[in-house]
Amino acid sequence: MRLLSTKATCNSHGQDSSYFLGWQEYEKNPYDEILNPKGIIQMGLAENQLSFDLLESWLAKNPDVSGFKRDGKSIFRELALFQDYHGLSSFKEAMVDFMAEIRGNRVTFDPDHMVLTAGSTSANETLMFCLAEKGDAFLLPTPYYPGFDRDLKWRTGVEIVPIHCSSDNNFQITESALEQAYEEAQNLNLNVKGILVTNPSNPLGTTLSLEELNLLVDFISGHKNMHLISDEIYSGTVFNSPGFVSVMEVLNNRFSDADEAIWDRVHVVYSLSKDLGLPGFRVGCIYSENDTVVAAATKMSSFGLVSSQTQYLLSAMLEDKKFTRKYLVENQKRLRRRQKMLVSGLEKSGIKCLESNAGLFCWVDMRHLLKSNTFEAEMDLWKRIVYDVKLNISPGSSCHCSEPGWFRVCFANMSEQTLKLAMKRLKSFVAELSSSSDNGDNKAHQSKRKSLTKWVFRLSSRDHRQRDQEER
Ligand SMILES: Cc1ncc(COP(=O)(O)O)c(C=O)c1O
Repeated sequence: MRLLSTKATCNSHGQDSSYFLGWQEYEKNPYDEILNPKGIIQMGLAENQLSFDLLESWLAKNPDVSGFKRDGKSIFRELALFQDYHGLSSFKEAMVDFMAEIRGNRVTFDPDHMVLTAGSTSANETLMFCLAEKGDAFLLPTPYYPGFDRDLKWRTGVEIVPIHCSSDNNFQITESALEQAYEEAQNLNLNVKGILVTNPSNPLGTTLSLEELNLLVDFISGHKNMHLISDEIYSGTVFNSPGFVSVMEVLNNRFSDADEAIWDRVHVVYSLSKDLGLPGFRVGCIYSENDTVVAAATKMSSFGLVSSQTQYLLSAMLEDKKFTRKYLVENQKRLRRRQKMLVSGLEKSGIKCLESNAGLFCWVDMRHLLKSNTFEAEMDLWKRIVYDVKLNISPGSSCHCSEPGWFRVCFANMSEQTLKLAMKRLKSFVAELSSSSDNGDNKAHQSKRKSLTKWVFRLSSRDHRQRDQEER
C-alpha cells in the first residue's frame, strides 16, 4: 500500500520545468550589488517593483487603515471574526470600480458577479473545476505562461491543447491555428470545454487585437459547449498603443443582455499581483455573468479566501479614485521607460524583441545565437546564459513556444542599475560568442547561425504532436 496519494507523488505539477529550475538556480546564487555582485540576476520573475513608493506614500498618509481603524476606532475584532466567503462588499465594489477604470470605464462590472480568490492562480484553477471534468481539454495559444501547466492541469486533471502561434504574424491567433488545435484535440479524443487566453499576453507583452477577440468570440459562439476565459491580470500595465480591449467590451458591443447563451460562457480572471505589484497579498477574482458559475466558484473559494485585513486595507486604497487614477498613469509611464531601456540594451547586443505594449517582460528573439535550430540548442544557450552570464531568463520552450530561440526577459523586478549590468553582461557574452565564431573555432556553428537569421523555423504538425504527447 502507498504511504502517500498518487497526486502527492506524481510529477505533473511542472516544478521541473526550466522556468522553475531557473528560479532555483537564482535562489542558490542571487545577485546583490554589495553582497554578491557576481550572482545571478533574476530576469525570470514577472514582478512589478516599480511603483512601491506610490503605495507606501498612500499608506503613510492613511495610517488608520493599516492600524485596523475606522473613523479613529479599532475594528480589529470585526476583522478578526469576519468569515463570510462572499467577501467584504466594500472591497468587491472597490475592485469592480478599479477594473472599470482600467478599461476606460467603457465597461462596468457588477460586484454580485465577482468571486474573490487567492490570486489569479486560484481563480484559474477554480474555473477549471467549475467548467470541465477530468480529461476534458482547454485550448491555449502558445507561447503561454508556464504556471498554467500547474494551475489548470495538476489537481483538476484537465488537459491543455496548444494553439500553435508563430513569429510569421507576431504570434497572433489565427482561425486556422484555432481550427487545427480543435482538430488535434478531437484526434486525441479530448472533449474541448473552452479556450483560455491571457490579454495582455504573458509572455508576449502584447494585447489581443479586436480581430483576434472577435475570432475567439465567434469560435465559442459556434461551439455551444465551449467557454472563453480571459486572464486579464496585466490589463493595467498597458503602456503603449494600441490600448487594451477587454473581452467584456467586445461582448458589450456585439451582444444584448438577452444573448445569455454567450454571456454565460465568457469569464474574466483578474488579480492585483501585477497592476498593483502585490503578489504576496494574494488578491484575485473571477468575474462571470453565469450565476451557476458564480455560485459554485463562491463555494469553492473557501479553499483560497482573501484575508479580511487585506480586503479592508485594499478597499480603502482602491476607493481613493484620485489615487488609483494617478497610480495607473504613473505606473504605466515607469513601465514604458523600463521596457524601452531593455529593448535598447538588447539592441546594443544585436538582439531584437517582439514589439510589445504591455506587461512586465519582453519576448526576445535569440534564434541567431542558437547552434542549431532545435530545442536542445535553446536549452544549451539558456544554460550558458544562466550559469555563465548569470542571468535567469525563461526559455521559450518552458512557455510551449513552437519555435526554438525565443526567451522571456522581465524588466520590472529590479533597479535600473541592475538592468544596465544585465545588459552589459549580455553584451560581453554575445561579443565573445561572435568572436569565437569569427576565429573559426566553430565554422559549422557560424555558417548555421548566418543561415538561421533568415530562416523562420516551423515545426511540422507531426513534430508538434510528438512533443505534446511526450509532455502529457
Ligand atoms: C497570466 C498569469 N496568470 C496568473 C498568474 C498568477 O498570478 P497570481 O499571483 O495572481 O496568482 C500569473 C503570474 O505570473 C500570470 O502571469
